[in-house]
Amino acid sequence: MTVRHFLRDDDLNPAEQSAVLDLAAAMKADRFKYRTLEGPRSVAVLFDKQSLRTRVSFAAGIAELGGNPIVIDGGGTHSGRGETPQDAGRVLSRYVSAIVVRTFADSHLAEIASGATVPVVNALTDGFHPCQLLADLLTVRERCGGTQGRVLTYVGDASNNMAHSYLLAGATAGMHVRISGPEAHAPDPAILERATEIAATTGGSVRTISDPNVAVRGTDVIATDTWTSMGQESDGYDRITPFLPYRIDAELVAQAAPHAVVLHCLPAHRGHEITDDVLDGTQSAVLDQAENRLHAQKALLAFLVGEQQ
Ligand code: CP
Ligand code: NVA
Repeated sequence: MTVRHFLRDDDLNPAEQSAVLDLAAAMKADRFKYRTLEGPRSVAVLFDKQSLRTRVSFAAGIAELGGNPIVIDGGGTHSGRGETPQDAGRVLSRYVSAIVVRTFADSHLAEIASGATVPVVNALTDGFHPCQLLADLLTVRERCGGTQGRVLTYVGDASNNMAHSYLLAGATAGMHVRISGPEAHAPDPAILERATEIAATTGGSVRTISDPNVAVRGTDVIATDTWTSMGQESDGYDRITPFLPYRIDAELVAQAAPHAVVLHCLPAHRGHEITDDVLDGTQSAVLDQAENRLHAQKALLAFLVGEQQ
């Protein structure tokens, strides 16, 4: 049997993504009912970068499913001492039912997956943050009554993992995805192309719009993220000045639909990509979004581990 991994958002097709979100909603409605990992079956959760939400939501979610989370920081493994990611994937597969990884290069994650015989889940890489997108889409379903045909505008660093995941996952969910950021920080053209291809099959669409005021006009969802992702702290770019026109403030939000919802995956750099009044305001859904990581990831694990049985 081929093992199912979740390395990028488009590893779930539209029907699968929708089924995972349905299950996530059911798990949220009856939080302690589902015991997919009873045994307990263990899940390894590996971090090469910092985390608060991902670390705790995976650990709590695995335990709520009756499983045993084993959370390890990169410094505690042999990855810095020459053990190959493929060997790590091979070995971990003998102990656990799934491997969840937050790391830098997507190629590193792909190498772990190439050795693994259990599902590998991307808990954030330089390229993508697909677990976050499942939570975001669950939040959009709750706040906007669905995803099909809704307009989602991402404003900020259009070249980062969140922008790429909005493109792929939003298109998969049938959304109209608009991306707005400085020209020097544009999305990867290959991801734009892939998202456009997906959108053509789901009734969604994908556009890049450089003027944020034009981009947010009439949108149902405004999303943003930090201008300095983990690992970019000293990459030589000015990570403030070019981004200033892309700050989410009350004036920008006023140009969206009156019912528009504001998303931020957190942690927020208050006063940079988003102002306090917007982040803490009535249109902000950021705490539901953070909570939904728990439900979405439980559903994802149940789906992936279920496919293995
Ligand atoms: N949103 C998110 O992934 O948060 P953490 O970095 O705290 O896990
Ligand atoms: N783009 C951010 C997301 C943090 C959850 C980063 O990679 O640091």
